[in-house]
Amino acid sequence: MAKFYITTPLYYVNASPHIGHAYTTVIADCTARWRRLKGEEVFFLTGSDEHGEKIKKAAESSGKEVKVFVDEIVKNFENLWQRLNISYDRFIRTTDSYHQAAVKKVIKTLAEKGDIYKANYQAYHCIPCESFWTPTQLAGKELCPDCGRGVSQIDEENYFFKLSKYESWLKDYLKNNPDSIMPKTRYNEVIGFLENNQLEDLCISRPKLRVSWGIDFPLDDKYVVYVWFDALINYISGAGFASDEKKFKKFWPADIHFMAKDILRYHAVFWPIMLKALDLELPRMVFAHGWWKFEGEKMSKSRGNIVNPLEVTDQFGVDALRYFLLREIPVGLDGNFFYKPLISRINSDLANDLGNLLYRVLNMSEKYFQGKVISGTACFWPPVFEPFLKNGQLFKSYQEYMDSCQFSVALEKLWVFIGVMNKYIEEQKPWVLFKENRLDELEHFLWSLLEGIRIVAWLIFPVMPQTSEAILRQLGRELKAESPNWSKGDFSIKKEAPLFPRIDLDQYVD
Ligand code: MSP
Repeated sequence: MAKFYITTPLYYVNASPHIGHAYTTVIADCTARWRRLKGEEVFFLTGSDEHGEKIKKAAESSGKEVKVFVDEIVKNFENLWQRLNISYDRFIRTTDSYHQAAVKKVIKTLAEKGDIYKANYQAYHCIPCESFWTPTQLAGKELCPDCGRGVSQIDEENYFFKLSKYESWLKDYLKNNPDSIMPKTRYNEVIGFLENNQLEDLCISRPKLRVSWGIDFPLDDKYVVYVWFDALINYISGAGFASDEKKFKKFWPADIHFMAKDILRYHAVFWPIMLKALDLELPRMVFAHGWWKFEGEKMSKSRGNIVNPLEVTDQFGVDALRYFLLREIPVGLDGNFFYKPLISRINSDLANDLGNLLYRVLNMSEKYFQGKVISGTACFWPPVFEPFLKNGQLFKSYQEYMDSCQFSVALEKLWVFIGVMNKYIEEQKPWVLFKENRLDELEHFLWSLLEGIRIVAWLIFPVMPQTSEAILRQLGRELKAESPNWSKGDFSIKKEAPLFPRIDLDQYVD
């Protein structure tokens, strides 16, 4: 059985999660569910990044002890993931002892290799980004080049990792592996960065006198580990490095690291070099999606423009939010979160196209055949279905888009088939068939639609798991016994309440 290892970033637990965090995690969950559906053995890792000044400051301003504070915020993340049906296999916390042991092992190994040394460190620190900058990078301004906020100056002795030693290796590696960073624009960005900048060695320690909240630096007890160096190691520690050799052997390297473009450089420059220095294989792909903005700016706690995913799911439902996030914007681009487009998607795609199709067909099945619709011998598809079903075309193209993380395109194409089914009902006028007592034709007509809906239900499972199961249940089927291709089999209808009631747009103003 093929394995597939998927990760999300470890989210900072200085504040509760928002739509941006939900987005990456829903993408990762959709991929995990998709791969499992295809029979692969998936390991899906998510978790929390809990060390460093940013978190310590947030705890201080809440008046709580740091561990108590992070425990509370971690609960909010776990609750949200449960609410959004996130099927992760492990939730890693950087405060977990197995992770801390792995970080120490990494540093000791790199030191034995001669890749770590001590020197003076002068830099500017952006606390919200936990990023560090040289005077040259700031170009005369004391503002973070990533987020534009103020930075503070640092001048101290620290430990460094020899990043620069691996610069030419990384360039060669990336040139030979153009698919290792996706989408393509992000790959080009990293290549451009490497061409225009010389890599400086990475400062990987912080003196305890200044930053006390971190993993003890194993080479010197006056220091803790730099939070980013600590956090990146989760991708191996979470898969068993330094704790479960068998698991690690099975799942490493990661098949896909998901994140947004803001933290691409850490994953596309620092991380591969760390792995190379450790003699470990590199992840197959780093996928950096765009940002969800609200009121024109990247959503973030410090900007105060966040949308709370729990409120959205309470109002509109979990699957509606999952569908909207995956369908609304092509995965590499930025998007604006507004209620109007969300409600339009719910009303048109979910309530009208999918919901109505299902209920019209279920109603007719009950009305004309008391809910029992059999395939009989004539289970050929109607001519209008041909382009989708011949040679498993619908499944094949859906698979291609899902495998390449083009979720919005996969769904767009699937909805074309749903549209064709709706049109087929209009054109066939089943009520006439009934009136003229052409019951064989009517049953085959309904059976074909039920079979088409069954295929749709299978395909949407990674995107809307509850909806997929609800549809199959009403068809008298169960996901695990089903296939995504046209096949014989009877239906035994058990109609339930509509999946997506229409929402009154006028109630919501953007
Ligand atoms: N702790 C680091 C990551 C360490 S990974 C080893 C960090 N944490 S974070 O809480 O700031 O999360 C950043 C990630 O959250 C982004 O890369 C993205 O996956 C997600 N998002 C946060 N805000 C987002 C948007 N507004 N839009 C889309 N994704 C967003 O960086």
